[in-house]
Amino acid sequence: MKCLCLLAFLAIVITQSYNDLRAEAASSDGFVSRKGVQFILNGKPFYANGFNAYWLTYEATDPATRFKITYALQNATSHGLTVARTWGFRDGGYRALQTAPGSYDELTFQGLDFAIAEAKRLGIKLIITFVNNYSDFGGRKQYVDWAKSQGQAVNSEDDFYVNPTVKQFFKNHVKKMVDRVNTFTKIAYKDEPTIMAWELMNEPQCKADPSGKTLTAWIGEMATYVKSLDSKHLLTTGLEGFYGDSSPQRKASLNPVAANVLGTDFIANHLFDAIDFASIHSYPDLWFPNLYETSRLDFLIKWLESHMEDAQNILKKPLILGEFGKPSNTPNYTLAQRDAVFNATFNTIYASAKKDGPIAGALFWHLISGGMKNFEDALSIVLSDKTSTVKIIGQQSHKLGLIGGRGKLSHKIKI
Ligand SMILES: *[C@@H]1O[C@H](CO)[C@@H](O)[C@H](O)[C@H]1NC(C)=O
Ligand SMILES: *[C@@H]1O[C@H](CO)[C@@H](O)[C@H](O)[C@H]1NC(C)=O
Ligand SMILES: *[C@@H]1O[C@H](CO)[C@@H](O)[C@H](O)[C@H]1NC(C)=O
Ligand SMILES: *[C@@H]1O[C@H](CO)[C@@H](O)[C@H](O)[C@H]1NC(C)=O
Repeated sequence: MKCLCLLAFLAIVITQSYNDLRAEAASSDGFVSRKGVQFILNGKPFYANGFNAYWLTYEATDPATRFKITYALQNATSHGLTVARTWGFRDGGYRALQTAPGSYDELTFQGLDFAIAEAKRLGIKLIITFVNNYSDFGGRKQYVDWAKSQGQAVNSEDDFYVNPTVKQFFKNHVKKMVDRVNTFTKIAYKDEPTIMAWELMNEPQCKADPSGKTLTAWIGEMATYVKSLDSKHLLTTGLEGFYGDSSPQRKASLNPVAANVLGTDFIANHLFDAIDFASIHSYPDLWFPNLYETSRLDFLIKWLESHMEDAQNILKKPLILGEFGKPSNTPNYTLAQRDAVFNATFNTIYASAKKDGPIAGALFWHLISGGMKNFEDALSIVLSDKTSTVKIIGQQSHKLGLIGGRGKLSHKIKI
Protein backbone atom coordinates (compact mmCIF):
# COMPACT_ATOMS: atom_id res chain seq x y z
CA MET A 1 0.00 0.00 0.00
CA LYS A 2 2.77 2.33 1.05
CA CYS A 3 4.54 1.29 -2.08
CA LEU A 4 1.51 2.09 -4.21
CA CYS A 5 1.23 5.55 -2.68
CA LEU A 6 4.85 6.23 -3.52
CA LEU A 7 4.23 5.04 -7.06
CA ALA A 8 1.20 7.28 -7.42
CA PHE A 9 3.21 10.19 -6.05
CA LEU A 10 6.03 9.45 -8.47
CA ALA A 11 3.57 9.32 -11.34
CA ILE A 12 2.20 12.72 -10.39
CA VAL A 13 5.69 14.17 -10.03
CA ILE A 14 6.78 12.79 -13.38
CA THR A 15 3.62 13.95 -15.11
CA GLN A 16 4.11 17.37 -13.61
CA SER A 17 7.67 17.51 -14.87
CA TYR A 18 6.53 16.57 -18.37
CA ASN A 19 3.97 19.32 -18.21
CA ASP A 20 6.70 21.75 -17.22
CA LEU A 21 8.91 20.55 -20.06
CA ARG A 22 6.03 20.86 -22.47
CA ALA A 23 5.12 24.32 -21.25
CA GLU A 24 8.74 25.35 -21.56
CA ALA A 25 9.04 24.02 -25.09
CA ALA A 26 5.69 25.45 -26.19
CA SER A 27 6.22 28.86 -24.70
CA SER A 28 9.73 29.24 -26.01
CA ASP A 29 9.84 31.00 -29.31
CA GLY A 30 13.60 30.68 -29.56
CA PHE A 31 15.60 29.19 -32.38
CA VAL A 32 17.84 26.31 -31.43
CA SER A 33 21.42 27.48 -31.92
CA ARG A 34 24.76 26.00 -31.04
CA LYS A 35 27.74 26.95 -28.94
CA GLY A 36 30.74 24.65 -29.15
CA VAL A 37 29.54 21.07 -28.85
CA GLN A 38 26.17 21.98 -27.35
CA PHE A 39 22.82 23.09 -28.67
CA ILE A 40 21.35 26.16 -26.98
CA LEU A 41 17.68 27.02 -26.60
CA ASN A 42 16.65 30.21 -24.81
CA GLY A 43 20.14 30.63 -23.42
CA LYS A 44 20.40 27.11 -21.96
CA PRO A 45 21.96 23.87 -23.21
CA PHE A 46 19.36 21.83 -25.08
CA TYR A 47 19.30 18.05 -24.70
CA ALA A 48 16.30 16.31 -26.12
CA ASN A 49 14.70 12.95 -26.63
CA GLY A 50 12.92 12.58 -29.94
CA PHE A 51 11.52 10.48 -32.73
CA ASN A 52 11.12 10.08 -36.46
CA ALA A 53 7.72 10.48 -38.11
CA TYR A 54 8.42 10.59 -41.83
CA TRP A 55 4.71 10.36 -42.65
CA LEU A 56 3.52 13.67 -41.16
CA THR A 57 3.09 15.53 -44.45
CA TYR A 58 1.55 12.54 -46.19
CA GLU A 59 -1.22 12.11 -43.60
CA ALA A 60 -1.69 15.88 -43.18
CA THR A 61 -2.34 16.35 -46.91
CA ASP A 62 -5.83 14.97 -46.41
CA PRO A 63 -7.67 17.13 -43.82
CA ALA A 64 -9.66 14.03 -42.84
CA THR A 65 -6.54 12.30 -41.50
CA ARG A 66 -4.88 15.32 -39.86
CA PHE A 67 -6.00 14.06 -36.46
CA LYS A 68 -3.26 11.41 -36.76
CA ILE A 69 -0.62 14.13 -36.64
CA THR A 70 -2.30 15.67 -33.60
CA TYR A 71 -2.55 12.30 -31.82
CA ALA A 72 1.06 11.40 -32.54
CA LEU A 73 2.43 14.76 -31.44
CA GLN A 74 0.23 14.90 -28.34
CA ASN A 75 1.29 11.42 -27.32
CA ALA A 76 4.89 12.48 -27.96
CA THR A 77 4.67 15.52 -25.71
CA SER A 78 3.07 13.50 -22.96
CA HIS A 79 6.19 11.30 -23.05
CA GLY A 80 8.44 14.34 -22.86
CA LEU A 81 9.62 14.04 -26.49
CA THR A 82 10.59 17.40 -27.96
CA VAL A 83 12.21 16.76 -31.36
CA ALA A 84 10.72 15.12 -34.46
CA ARG A 85 12.52 14.35 -37.73
CA THR A 86 10.37 14.29 -40.85
CA TRP A 87 10.54 14.37 -44.65
CA GLY A 88 10.44 17.67 -46.49
CA PHE A 89 10.11 15.88 -49.79
CA ARG A 90 7.99 13.56 -51.85
CA ASP A 91 9.31 13.81 -55.39
CA GLY A 92 6.85 12.62 -58.01
CA GLY A 93 4.25 9.89 -57.58
CA TYR A 94 1.14 9.75 -55.41
CA ARG A 95 0.62 12.76 -53.12
CA ALA A 96 3.89 14.27 -54.37
CA LEU A 97 5.10 17.51 -52.83
CA GLN A 98 7.24 18.27 -55.90
CA THR A 99 5.33 16.88 -58.88
CA ALA A 100 7.97 17.86 -61.47
CA PRO A 101 11.13 20.01 -61.20
CA GLY A 102 9.98 23.29 -59.67
CA SER A 103 6.27 22.33 -59.63
CA TYR A 104 4.57 21.76 -56.31
CA ASP A 105 1.22 20.40 -55.21
CA GLU A 106 -0.34 23.11 -53.06
CA LEU A 107 -2.45 20.63 -51.08
CA THR A 108 0.59 18.57 -50.14
CA PHE A 109 2.46 21.73 -49.17
CA GLN A 110 -0.46 22.63 -46.93
CA GLY A 111 -0.02 19.20 -45.35
CA LEU A 112 3.56 20.14 -44.43
CA ASP A 113 2.30 23.56 -43.28
CA PHE A 114 -0.14 21.80 -40.96
CA ALA A 115 2.52 19.49 -39.54
CA ILE A 116 4.73 22.50 -38.75
CA ALA A 117 1.85 24.51 -37.27
CA GLU A 118 0.80 21.58 -35.09
CA ALA A 119 4.37 20.97 -33.90
CA LYS A 120 4.56 24.66 -33.04
CA ARG A 121 1.31 24.53 -31.09
CA LEU A 122 2.46 21.51 -29.11
CA GLY A 123 6.06 22.59 -28.52
CA ILE A 124 7.94 20.09 -30.68
CA LYS A 125 11.00 21.12 -32.68
CA LEU A 126 11.45 19.70 -36.18
CA ILE A 127 14.39 18.46 -38.21
CA ILE A 128 13.29 18.52 -41.86
CA THR A 129 15.07 16.59 -44.61
CA PHE A 130 15.27 17.91 -48.19
CA VAL A 131 15.69 14.69 -50.20
CA ASN A 132 16.15 10.94 -49.95
CA ASN A 133 19.27 8.98 -50.91
CA TYR A 134 17.12 6.06 -51.88
CA SER A 135 14.28 5.95 -54.38
CA ASP A 136 11.56 5.77 -51.71
CA PHE A 137 9.25 8.76 -52.29
CA GLY A 138 11.29 9.84 -55.32
CA GLY A 139 14.73 10.63 -54.01
CA ARG A 140 17.93 10.99 -55.98
CA LYS A 141 16.58 8.60 -58.61
CA GLN A 142 13.61 10.84 -59.39
CA TYR A 143 15.84 13.92 -59.72
CA VAL A 144 18.15 12.08 -62.11
CA ASP A 145 15.18 10.75 -64.12
CA TRP A 146 13.79 14.28 -64.41
CA ALA A 147 17.13 15.50 -65.76
CA LYS A 148 17.30 12.59 -68.19
CA SER A 149 13.86 13.42 -69.56
CA GLN A 150 15.20 16.92 -70.26
CA GLY A 151 18.00 15.41 -72.35
CA GLN A 152 20.78 15.40 -69.73
CA ALA A 153 23.46 12.73 -70.12
CA VAL A 154 22.98 11.11 -66.73
CA ASN A 155 23.37 7.41 -66.15
CA SER A 156 23.27 6.57 -62.47
CA GLU A 157 21.73 7.93 -59.31
CA ASP A 158 25.20 9.06 -58.27
CA ASP A 159 25.13 11.66 -61.08
CA PHE A 160 22.84 13.47 -58.63
CA TYR A 161 25.97 14.81 -56.95
CA VAL A 162 27.72 16.11 -60.08
CA ASN A 163 25.29 16.90 -62.91
CA PRO A 164 24.74 20.70 -62.96
CA THR A 165 21.07 20.44 -63.96
CA VAL A 166 20.31 18.00 -61.14
CA LYS A 167 22.23 20.14 -58.65
CA GLN A 168 20.15 23.14 -59.73
CA PHE A 169 16.90 21.15 -59.30
CA PHE A 170 17.98 20.41 -55.73
CA LYS A 171 18.91 24.02 -55.02
CA ASN A 172 15.53 25.12 -56.38
CA HIS A 173 13.81 22.74 -53.96
CA VAL A 174 15.81 24.15 -51.05
CA LYS A 175 14.83 27.67 -52.04
CA LYS A 176 11.17 26.72 -52.43
CA MET A 177 11.19 25.20 -48.96
CA VAL A 178 12.91 27.99 -47.04
CA ASP A 179 10.86 30.71 -48.77
CA ARG A 180 7.53 28.92 -48.26
CA VAL A 181 5.08 30.95 -46.18
CA ASN A 182 3.03 28.66 -43.95
CA THR A 183 -0.67 29.01 -44.77
CA PHE A 184 -1.64 28.33 -41.13
CA THR A 185 0.92 30.39 -39.21
CA LYS A 186 1.67 32.98 -41.97
CA ILE A 187 5.36 32.61 -41.06
CA ALA A 188 7.99 31.79 -43.69
CA TYR A 189 9.73 28.47 -43.03
CA LYS A 190 13.09 30.30 -42.88
CA ASP A 191 11.75 32.42 -40.00
CA GLU A 192 10.06 29.59 -38.11
CA PRO A 193 11.75 28.67 -34.79
CA THR A 194 9.74 25.42 -34.62
CA ILE A 195 12.14 24.18 -37.26
CA MET A 196 15.27 23.23 -35.35
CA ALA A 197 17.34 22.28 -38.38
CA TRP A 198 17.42 21.34 -42.03
CA GLU A 199 19.01 18.13 -43.17
CA LEU A 200 20.52 17.86 -46.66
CA MET A 201 19.62 14.23 -47.37
CA ASN A 202 18.40 11.11 -45.65
CA GLU A 203 21.41 8.75 -45.50
CA PRO A 204 23.55 10.11 -48.35
CA GLN A 205 25.78 7.58 -50.08
CA CYS A 206 27.80 7.68 -53.30
CA LYS A 207 29.11 4.31 -54.41
CA ALA A 208 30.53 5.83 -57.62
CA ASP A 209 33.28 7.42 -55.53
CA PRO A 210 34.25 5.32 -52.51
CA SER A 211 36.89 7.92 -51.55
CA GLY A 212 34.07 10.11 -50.26
CA LYS A 213 35.37 13.15 -52.15
CA THR A 214 32.35 13.48 -54.46
CA LEU A 215 29.91 13.47 -51.58
CA THR A 216 32.10 15.84 -49.56
CA ALA A 217 32.18 18.34 -52.45
CA TRP A 218 28.41 18.16 -52.85
CA ILE A 219 27.82 18.67 -49.12
CA GLY A 220 30.16 21.69 -49.11
CA GLU A 221 28.41 23.32 -52.06
CA MET A 222 24.87 22.65 -50.85
CA ALA A 223 25.54 23.60 -47.23
CA THR A 224 26.89 26.97 -48.35
CA TYR A 225 23.84 27.41 -50.55
CA VAL A 226 21.33 26.60 -47.78
CA LYS A 227 23.07 29.03 -45.42
CA SER A 228 23.05 31.78 -48.08
CA LEU A 229 19.24 31.62 -48.06
CA ASP A 230 18.60 30.83 -44.42
CA SER A 231 21.07 31.87 -41.75
CA LYS A 232 18.69 31.31 -38.83
CA HIS A 233 18.50 27.53 -38.91
CA LEU A 234 21.00 24.86 -38.10
CA LEU A 235 22.03 22.40 -40.80
CA THR A 236 23.23 18.81 -40.82
CA THR A 237 24.00 16.13 -43.39
CA GLY A 238 21.68 13.20 -42.58
CA LEU A 239 24.64 10.82 -42.69
CA GLU A 240 24.63 7.31 -41.21
CA GLY A 241 28.15 7.93 -39.87
CA PHE A 242 30.35 5.48 -41.76
CA TYR A 243 34.01 6.38 -41.57
CA GLY A 244 36.21 7.09 -44.59
CA ASP A 245 39.81 7.89 -45.39
CA SER A 246 39.97 10.70 -42.80
CA SER A 247 39.81 8.00 -40.12
CA PRO A 248 41.74 4.96 -41.46
CA GLN A 249 41.72 3.19 -38.13
CA ARG A 250 38.01 3.55 -37.44
CA LYS A 251 37.28 2.71 -41.08
CA ALA A 252 39.15 -0.58 -40.69
CA SER A 253 38.06 -1.53 -37.18
CA LEU A 254 34.59 -0.08 -36.68
CA ASN A 255 32.78 0.23 -40.03
CA PRO A 256 30.76 -2.75 -41.20
CA VAL A 257 32.97 -3.93 -44.10
CA ALA A 258 30.18 -3.36 -46.65
CA ALA A 259 30.12 0.31 -45.70
CA ASN A 260 33.63 0.91 -47.02
CA VAL A 261 32.37 1.24 -50.59
CA LEU A 262 29.50 3.64 -49.88
CA GLY A 263 31.51 6.82 -50.51
CA THR A 264 30.95 8.55 -47.16
CA ASP A 265 33.50 10.00 -44.76
CA PHE A 266 32.03 10.96 -41.40
CA ILE A 267 34.79 13.46 -40.62
CA ALA A 268 35.30 15.12 -44.01
CA ASN A 269 31.53 15.24 -44.63
CA HIS A 270 30.94 17.20 -41.43
CA LEU A 271 33.96 19.52 -41.27
CA PHE A 272 32.36 22.45 -43.15
CA ASP A 273 31.50 25.53 -41.08
CA ALA A 274 28.08 25.55 -42.72
CA ILE A 275 27.35 22.13 -41.19
CA ASP A 276 26.37 22.92 -37.61
CA PHE A 277 26.10 19.46 -36.16
CA ALA A 278 26.91 15.87 -37.02
CA SER A 279 24.42 13.12 -37.84
CA ILE A 280 24.67 9.39 -37.34
CA HIS A 281 22.25 6.46 -37.50
CA SER A 282 22.59 3.11 -35.79
CA TYR A 283 21.31 -0.21 -37.15
CA PRO A 284 23.60 -3.00 -35.94
CA ASP A 285 20.87 -5.57 -36.69
CA LEU A 286 20.91 -4.64 -40.38
CA TRP A 287 24.66 -4.13 -40.57
CA PHE A 288 25.64 -7.34 -38.73
CA PRO A 289 22.82 -9.84 -39.36
CA ASN A 290 25.05 -12.74 -38.32
CA LEU A 291 26.38 -11.42 -35.04
CA TYR A 292 25.00 -12.44 -31.66
CA GLU A 293 22.84 -9.92 -29.87
CA THR A 294 25.44 -9.19 -27.19
CA SER A 295 28.04 -8.37 -29.87
CA ARG A 296 25.59 -6.05 -31.62
CA LEU A 297 24.95 -4.24 -28.35
CA ASP A 298 28.71 -3.90 -27.83
CA PHE A 299 29.00 -2.46 -31.32
CA LEU A 300 26.14 -0.03 -30.69
CA ILE A 301 27.89 1.44 -27.66
CA LYS A 302 31.25 1.64 -29.45
CA TRP A 303 29.57 3.27 -32.48
CA LEU A 304 28.07 5.97 -30.27
CA GLU A 305 31.17 6.51 -28.19
CA SER A 306 33.55 6.81 -31.14
CA HIS A 307 31.34 9.40 -32.85
CA MET A 308 30.91 11.29 -29.59
CA GLU A 309 34.69 11.38 -29.21
CA ASP A 310 35.13 12.68 -32.77
CA ALA A 311 32.37 15.27 -32.41
CA GLN A 312 34.05 16.52 -29.26
CA ASN A 313 37.70 16.45 -30.35
CA ILE A 314 37.79 16.74 -34.14
CA LEU A 315 34.54 18.30 -35.36
CA LYS A 316 33.91 20.32 -32.20
CA LYS A 317 30.18 20.26 -32.93
CA PRO A 318 27.11 18.68 -31.40
CA LEU A 319 25.96 15.24 -32.55
CA ILE A 320 22.51 13.73 -32.95
CA LEU A 321 21.63 10.07 -33.30
CA GLY A 322 19.09 10.70 -36.05
CA GLU A 323 17.80 7.12 -36.29
CA PHE A 324 17.98 3.95 -34.26
CA GLY A 325 15.66 1.07 -33.46
CA LYS A 326 15.30 -2.67 -33.16
CA PRO A 327 13.48 -4.42 -36.02
CA SER A 328 10.97 -6.93 -34.70
CA ASN A 329 11.66 -9.18 -37.68
CA THR A 330 15.24 -9.80 -36.56
CA PRO A 331 15.67 -13.58 -36.03
CA ASN A 332 15.03 -14.54 -32.37
CA TYR A 333 13.63 -11.05 -31.63
CA THR A 334 12.18 -10.40 -28.18
CA LEU A 335 10.74 -7.27 -26.60
CA ALA A 336 13.46 -7.49 -23.95
CA GLN A 337 16.05 -7.18 -26.74
CA ARG A 338 14.35 -4.05 -28.03
CA ASP A 339 14.34 -2.63 -24.50
CA ALA A 340 18.02 -3.46 -24.14
CA VAL A 341 18.81 -1.57 -27.38
CA PHE A 342 16.86 1.49 -26.21
CA ASN A 343 18.43 1.25 -22.76
CA ALA A 344 21.99 0.99 -24.07
CA THR A 345 21.44 3.86 -26.49
CA PHE A 346 19.80 6.13 -23.94
CA ASN A 347 22.26 5.32 -21.14
CA THR A 348 25.26 6.08 -23.38
CA ILE A 349 23.71 9.39 -24.40
CA TYR A 350 22.74 10.34 -20.88
CA ALA A 351 26.24 9.63 -19.58
CA SER A 352 27.64 12.05 -22.18
CA ALA A 353 24.97 14.72 -21.73
CA LYS A 354 25.44 14.72 -17.97
CA LYS A 355 29.08 15.74 -18.52
CA ASP A 356 28.07 18.49 -21.04
CA GLY A 357 29.13 16.14 -23.84
CA PRO A 358 28.39 16.59 -27.55
CA ILE A 359 25.51 14.17 -28.10
CA ALA A 360 22.22 16.01 -27.72
CA GLY A 361 19.86 13.08 -28.01
CA ALA A 362 18.47 10.22 -30.04
CA LEU A 363 15.50 10.03 -32.39
CA PHE A 364 14.00 6.55 -32.52
CA TRP A 365 12.78 5.15 -35.84
CA HIS A 366 9.79 5.48 -35.90
CA LEU A 367 6.61 6.81 -34.31
CA ILE A 368 3.08 6.12 -35.58
CA SER A 369 -0.34 6.56 -34.00
CA GLY A 370 -2.52 3.62 -33.06
CA GLY A 371 -4.50 2.22 -36.01
CA MET A 372 -2.07 3.53 -38.66
CA LYS A 373 -1.83 0.15 -40.37
CA ASN A 374 -0.51 1.75 -43.55
CA PHE A 375 2.69 2.83 -41.78
CA GLU A 376 3.09 -0.09 -39.39
CA ASP A 377 6.28 -2.09 -39.82
CA ALA A 378 8.99 -3.94 -37.90
CA LEU A 379 10.26 -0.70 -36.36
CA SER A 380 7.09 1.30 -35.68
CA ILE A 381 6.23 2.29 -32.12
CA VAL A 382 2.82 3.35 -30.81
CA LEU A 383 3.22 5.35 -27.60
CA SER A 384 -0.36 4.75 -26.48
CA ASP A 385 0.42 0.99 -26.42
CA LYS A 386 2.31 1.64 -23.17
CA THR A 387 4.86 -1.15 -23.72
CA SER A 388 7.99 -1.49 -21.59
CA THR A 389 9.92 0.27 -24.39
CA VAL A 390 7.54 3.22 -24.21
CA LYS A 391 8.25 3.43 -20.49
CA ILE A 392 12.00 3.51 -21.16
CA ILE A 393 11.45 6.29 -23.73
CA GLY A 394 9.53 8.37 -21.16
CA GLN A 395 12.24 7.82 -18.54
CA GLN A 396 14.94 9.06 -20.91
CA SER A 397 12.92 12.21 -21.72
CA HIS A 398 12.63 12.84 -18.04
CA LYS A 399 16.34 12.32 -17.35
CA LEU A 400 17.48 14.50 -20.25
CA GLY A 401 14.95 17.15 -19.29
CA LEU A 402 16.59 17.45 -15.89
CA ILE A 403 19.95 18.48 -17.30
CA GLY A 404 20.82 21.19 -19.72
CA GLY A 405 19.74 24.11 -17.62
CA ARG A 406 16.45 22.61 -16.58
CA GLY A 407 17.77 22.12 -13.07
CA LYS A 408 14.76 23.95 -11.69
CA LEU A 409 12.91 20.65 -12.05
CA SER A 410 15.49 18.59 -10.24
CA HIS A 411 14.06 18.96 -6.74
CA LYS A 412 11.10 16.98 -7.93
CA ILE A 413 13.01 13.75 -8.32
CA LYS A 414 14.77 13.76 -4.95
CA ILE A 415 12.58 10.97 -3.63
C1 LIG B 1 21.36 4.81 -51.26
O1 LIG B 1 21.05 4.75 -52.65
C2 LIG B 1 21.64 3.68 -53.36
C3 LIG B 1 21.15 3.78 -54.79
O2 LIG B 1 21.76 4.82 -55.44
C4 LIG B 1 21.25 2.34 -52.79
O3 LIG B 1 21.95 1.31 -53.45
C5 LIG B 1 21.56 2.31 -51.31
O4 LIG B 1 21.08 1.11 -50.75
C6 LIG B 1 20.92 3.49 -50.62
N1 LIG B 1 21.26 3.48 -49.22
C7 LIG B 1 20.37 3.63 -48.26
C8 LIG B 1 20.87 3.57 -46.87
O5 LIG B 1 19.19 3.82 -48.49
C1 LIG C 1 18.55 -17.97 -32.62
O1 LIG C 1 18.13 -19.02 -31.79
C2 LIG C 1 18.57 -20.30 -32.21
C3 LIG C 1 17.91 -21.35 -31.32
O2 LIG C 1 17.97 -20.95 -29.97
C4 LIG C 1 20.09 -20.34 -32.13
O3 LIG C 1 20.59 -21.59 -32.58
C5 LIG C 1 20.67 -19.25 -33.02
O4 LIG C 1 22.07 -19.19 -32.86
C6 LIG C 1 20.08 -17.90 -32.65
N1 LIG C 1 20.50 -16.90 -33.63
C7 LIG C 1 20.99 -15.72 -33.26
C8 LIG C 1 21.37 -14.80 -34.39
O5 LIG C 1 21.11 -15.37 -32.11
C1 LIG D 1 16.84 -0.74 -18.59
O1 LIG D 1 17.52 0.07 -17.65
C2 LIG D 1 16.85 0.16 -16.39
C3 LIG D 1 17.67 1.08 -15.53
O2 LIG D 1 17.98 2.26 -16.20
C4 LIG D 1 16.69 -1.20 -15.78
O3 LIG D 1 15.92 -1.07 -14.63
C5 LIG D 1 16.01 -2.14 -16.76
O4 LIG D 1 16.03 -3.46 -16.23
C6 LIG D 1 16.74 -2.16 -18.07
N1 LIG D 1 16.01 -2.99 -19.01
C7 LIG D 1 16.63 -3.74 -19.92
C8 LIG D 1 15.76 -4.57 -20.79
O5 LIG D 1 17.84 -3.75 -20.06
C1 LIG E 1 -2.60 9.07 -28.43
O1 LIG E 1 -2.79 8.27 -29.57
C2 LIG E 1 -3.92 7.44 -29.51
C3 LIG E 1 -3.90 6.60 -30.76
O2 LIG E 1 -2.71 5.85 -30.76
C4 LIG E 1 -5.18 8.29 -29.42
O3 LIG E 1 -6.31 7.44 -29.27
C5 LIG E 1 -5.06 9.18 -28.22
O4 LIG E 1 -6.15 10.06 -28.20
C6 LIG E 1 -3.79 9.99 -28.29
N1 LIG E 1 -3.63 10.78 -27.10
C7 LIG E 1 -3.57 12.08 -27.16
C8 LIG E 1 -3.39 12.79 -25.85
O5 LIG E 1 -3.65 12.69 -28.20
